[in-house]
Amino acid sequence: MHTEKPFFLRDSWKYDPHHRTTSVPDQELGFDTRALHSGFRPLEDVEEFRSFAVPIVQSMTYPYECFEKFPNYIYGRSKTPTVSVLEKRLAALEGGEACVTACSGSQALFQLVFTIARPGDNVVTTLNTFGEGYKQAAAIFPQRCNIEFRFVRDFTNLEAWDEAIDGRTKLVWVETPSNPCLQVTDIRGVAEVAHQRGVPLMVDNTTATPALQKPMELGADIVLLSLTKFLCGNATVLGGAVIGPEALVEDIRWNTTEFVGAILQPFEAWLMLQYLETLSLRMERHSQNAQCVAEFLVQHPKVKHVNYPGLPNHPQAELARRQMKANGGLLSFVVPNGMQGAAKVMNSFRLITHAVTFGTSRTICMHPRTITHEHMTQEERDAAGIDDGLIRLSVGLENVEDIIADLDQALEKL
Ligand SMILES: Cc1ncc(COP(=O)(O)O)c(C=O)c1O
Repeated sequence: MHTEKPFFLRDSWKYDPHHRTTSVPDQELGFDTRALHSGFRPLEDVEEFRSFAVPIVQSMTYPYECFEKFPNYIYGRSKTPTVSVLEKRLAALEGGEACVTACSGSQALFQLVFTIARPGDNVVTTLNTFGEGYKQAAAIFPQRCNIEFRFVRDFTNLEAWDEAIDGRTKLVWVETPSNPCLQVTDIRGVAEVAHQRGVPLMVDNTTATPALQKPMELGADIVLLSLTKFLCGNATVLGGAVIGPEALVEDIRWNTTEFVGAILQPFEAWLMLQYLETLSLRMERHSQNAQCVAEFLVQHPKVKHVNYPGLPNHPQAELARRQMKANGGLLSFVVPNGMQGAAKVMNSFRLITHAVTFGTSRTICMHPRTITHEHMTQEERDAAGIDDGLIRLSVGLENVEDIIADLDQALEKL
């Protein structure tokens, strides 16, 4: 039973004109020394940090207890305590052994490929990948590191995956559902093909997040995440992560993270830890809202096509039902009259913001043809489904009627 507790105001200090201050700490030390050491002795004050929220440990260096003993944390370029909490949490969420963070999802991909492949090796993937990933695959790695990327065109055909793999394939990379066209790849099927050929499978789980999809339970060996999107949820953190076997994660940490300082910073890690607490709730609501928006768009006379795995006419709707808990907050749709049509609609939005990212609590739109996939050839864009009139919509957490009303009035302008 709830009992009322009396509310006390503290009133213990009584001014005493004869009192002399005696217990000021560290008075034996000089002012400058006190400015650097008072109130915090890293080896003595552990109890001070017994805290409900994970403390932000912003220090970039860590004291040695003695000459002979290496501390667990040494220097901020490889790992720091708050970031380690986030890494453990992400590994726990994805069901992987270990995790290393990076300053962006794109950097996480770069570090993974740089660690896994050598000149002459190849990576097998598809054209259904985020823009910066495509640029690394099509230009940066082939031209600077002689690492070839093979794009499987018929990604629903497991034999096509098998044919692309050879003795120099070091990684199979699947992004599902893909950005921006929401193609869904069979994780279990591709994992079986890759494993038969002795190659690990990496799944980019950015669009679904571990709240909706568990690639490792379906056979993936490695998970790539952009933290910047739904995992953060409000575009206040840029970050990425690789989750996988501990030995691989430590290779990445050693080969790249440590040498170039490519790791998330403590404050960003702390923010991420707060945001992750509501991930499942947010993903549930994003999915509900996106389903309503997709159903509205698919029957709209001015919309040519809608990509959303929750629609019954999506080519992999059944697969999505099997491998995802819900369909997430990302969709895309095609309006008539190509780029002009897209511009007209996007310039007419009043509530929906036109900006580059997705996964935000506020609904946001973007034009892939000009902003993220501009470097693909026309033939590749056609194969990937990136029409000139394609608009990517990240459906937010607003009241769904308001999102639909904004879409409706914008589409009326066509
Ligand atoms: C599926 C996917 N993975 C990874 C990334 C890269 O993330 P970041 O923007 O954090 O570099 C993106 C970015 O759009 C993405 O869409």
